[in-house]
Amino acid sequence: MTAEQVARYVVAKAVWAPSVHNTQPWRFTAAGQQVSLYADAGRRLVVADPDGREMMISCGAALFNVRLALRSLGYIPETRVLPDPGQPELVARVSWRQRAAADELERWLFGQILTRRTHRGAFDPEPLPPDMLAALRAGAEREGAALRIVADDGRRAALAAAVEEAERHLRLVGERVRELARWAPPPGSARSDGVPATSYPARPEHTEPYFPGRDFARGHGWGVPPLGSATAHRAAGVAGLLTTTADRPADWVNAGQALQRILLTASGCGAAVALHSQPLELPWLREFIRTQLSDDACPHLVLRIGLVTQVAVSVRRDPGDVLFSAGGDSARLG
Ligand SMILES: Cc1cc2nc3c(=O)[nH]c(=O)nc-3n(C[C@H](O)[C@H](O)[C@H](O)COP(=O)(O)O)c2cc1C
Repeated sequence: MTAEQVARYVVAKAVWAPSVHNTQPWRFTAAGQQVSLYADAGRRLVVADPDGREMMISCGAALFNVRLALRSLGYIPETRVLPDPGQPELVARVSWRQRAAADELERWLFGQILTRRTHRGAFDPEPLPPDMLAALRAGAEREGAALRIVADDGRRAALAAAVEEAERHLRLVGERVRELARWAPPPGSARSDGVPATSYPARPEHTEPYFPGRDFARGHGWGVPPLGSATAHRAAGVAGLLTTTADRPADWVNAGQALQRILLTASGCGAAVALHSQPLELPWLREFIRTQLSDDACPHLVLRIGLVTQVAVSVRRDPGDVLFSAGGDSARLG
């Protein structure tokens, strides 16, 4: 493959990373054997994400896919995570010179990139495969973050209450509702970004404790009808928090890389993950979670992990719309 073909291949996989409201806030340039990943600040959630933390987490997840895609080709990625005040949108540069065959774990994770989906709703009551949580925790640590399982019933209920409180607040603030609406198109939309109605349940699936999802449908009745086979007894799943020790843009990128490693590992184990960032978008609830539930580590996302039959279908922009040559002409490479 030529360097340009490698760049195209890598970006075609990178775009399948998760991103807040499926904003896909990224842009790539290629030059020789190097891809640069930039945050696309025009896609940042101005109200929900004033500091760009969720945007950088999303870019970090895309960066993990870039690394994994290079490994799938037998290249060793050399990654420099770079957000700095001088070039705040430059997330990372990844180059490839040396080769080594991908190992079994890398191939297994890579195989999940296209099929993994965000789950929104309840889980089956069956327990997770043994050792899975240990693998998820170890994976997060490898990427410079931590996955803290919130197992204690009282703390789990407090975490659910924080999500519920945040969701109630978000639904009452006009500018937040309008921002969400811009990223939640109606069924049948031809858009290739935003959260499609094929990716969330038409009716909230209540659990004990209850972690409400985002109100993408906003009373329109959009969403996927319940499966006929759905059992009455549904579970909230194992709750966890994704955290980093510090709270700088580079930590947010690492949180995103850890998130994607967690999601792909879970997917490979046959499990699904629901993400809740509602309470982390409200400073007082983020502070409550930091001090009361995450031992003063900086929280980025609430995760719920469980087993379920996945039905969500998502969308992405064409890789050609986000990959450009690094030369002055910024020509499309896709
Ligand atoms: C930083 C971040 C925050 C997110 N927050 C939520 C959330 O609060 N609720 C939700 O349902 N999904 C959340 N997601 C998942 C995205 O909506 C999802 O990745 C996107 O719609 C693409 O769908 P897919 O993951 O199924 O490919 C979040 C993802 C990221 C990276």
